[in-house]
Amino acid sequence: MTFKKNILCIGAGYVGGPTMAVIAAKCPDCKVTVVDVNAERIQGWNTDRLPIFEPGLLEVVQEARGRNLFFSTDIAAGIRAADIIFVSVNTPTKTFGHGAGMASDLQYWEKTAHEIVAHAGNSKIIVEKSTLPVRTAEAMEQILQENAKGIHFEVVSNPEFLSEGSAVRDLLEPDRVLIGSRQTESGARAAQAIADIYTRWVDAGKIITTNLWSAELSKLVANAFLAQRVSSINSMSALCEKTGADVGEISYAVGSDRRIGPRFLNASIGFGGSCFKKDILNLVYISRSYGLDQVADYWQAVIRMNEYQQERFVQTIIREMFQTVVGKRIVLLGFAFKANTGDTRESPGIYVASKLLEEQAVLVVSDPQALENARRDLAGLAGSVEFEPDPYRAAAGAQGLAVITEWEEYKSLDFGKIFASMHKPAFVFDGRNILDHRKLFQIGFNVFPLGKPKLTHFK
Ligand code: UDX
Ligand code: ADP
Repeated sequence: MTFKKNILCIGAGYVGGPTMAVIAAKCPDCKVTVVDVNAERIQGWNTDRLPIFEPGLLEVVQEARGRNLFFSTDIAAGIRAADIIFVSVNTPTKTFGHGAGMASDLQYWEKTAHEIVAHAGNSKIIVEKSTLPVRTAEAMEQILQENAKGIHFEVVSNPEFLSEGSAVRDLLEPDRVLIGSRQTESGARAAQAIADIYTRWVDAGKIITTNLWSAELSKLVANAFLAQRVSSINSMSALCEKTGADVGEISYAVGSDRRIGPRFLNASIGFGGSCFKKDILNLVYISRSYGLDQVADYWQAVIRMNEYQQERFVQTIIREMFQTVVGKRIVLLGFAFKANTGDTRESPGIYVASKLLEEQAVLVVSDPQALENARRDLAGLAGSVEFEPDPYRAAAGAQGLAVITEWEEYKSLDFGKIFASMHKPAFVFDGRNILDHRKLFQIGFNVFPLGKPKLTHFK
């Protein structure tokens, strides 16, 4: 069958895979090909054991795969055939050289740009899907235009706002689709071509078109604002613990103000995920490089608060377990950076585990989806770690439970049975405030919620 358009996506990760699956499902007259250098990942996308866990994703992939959705490692062929190329390769924080620990590492993006130049035989629209520092498109345009073939590449920014765990829903019902382009005739045409893809299922009123730099920067700002809310409420959880106020009640009371709104006000052991920290660091780095130190300091404090919250959680565990966890079996309930994903990138669980291991605790990590990643994250650490998907088996003989991830299934565990199997005194540290603390206390646990009065049996 001949397709109306050939869409290529370079990078088959958490962003590229789900986004292209939804585009393919909604645009059956377009051929959508997703390529990646990682052959194992591509193989995974071609089976029913997808390389990422995302509710509802398999059904969408199955609908389109083999019809107009294809996963391949042949990047060159993909580039040659494409009219539109989405680039969603990883852009981690630099770990070396100038800007290490702050700036984005753009080597994968740049390599992709060179590959596009090498294999393209005609003009194409290049879409930035990965989150990138503001003005990256300019550098990309320079690389792409430096070709001897007389081909025109129009660079467009279409940042993805999907959130892991609800990626399919976010893609099907986005709050908005943002498309940034050059304010030229060809820029406007390219933006329209991208808008034409989304209007198949998204209301035209939800499509926001801006200049390139606004689109690039909006993505960083959206993540920074969301992270800032989490850090703000987490800072208050510390104050609540000192004053007897309850952070849950504060969130409700404050979030009821329609100007503030209720979402992203759940106190936690801290935000994780591949985006928040990376994007804020990036914002801080960019601000500093323009000499805007006050702006940089302001946003850096959001990250500092996040680190403080994780440190505080570990300190609470050690302090309340009589100042020592040496040889004590402690279960981490959850390891993913949030529920409904197997992703552990920047998960606070990594920090908590490494600190408790330093303190010579005996760790048991339990998670319904993230144990494979957890094993990898903790591989180099000295000490005793077990991985046990079944929370009941994990808890047997343990002294402490620490909730790291807000998995729904943890709320309905039989804590009476768990308590009976544990060493006494038994402790619960609820880093997500998802459990019924009063009930746990009545069962016999000593309970330490976040930002709420503790419930202990000690005199
Ligand atoms: C985020 C953005 O939401 C998304 O728009 C962007 O495209 C990518 O980054 P994601 O990292 O998948 O998505 O997860 P998100 O739901 O935003 O949560 C981020 C972190 O904040 C998680 O660790 C989560 O547990 C934490 N969080 C969130 C809280 O601690 N409290 C809250 O109230 C909300
Ligand atoms: P994100 O969360 O932004 O989607 P991921 O790390 O999940 O990030 O996915 C990025 C993907 O991009 C990885 O699967 C990686 O192998 C792929 N990738 C990186 N560089 C290239 C490249 N030059 N060509 C093709 N794929 C690439």
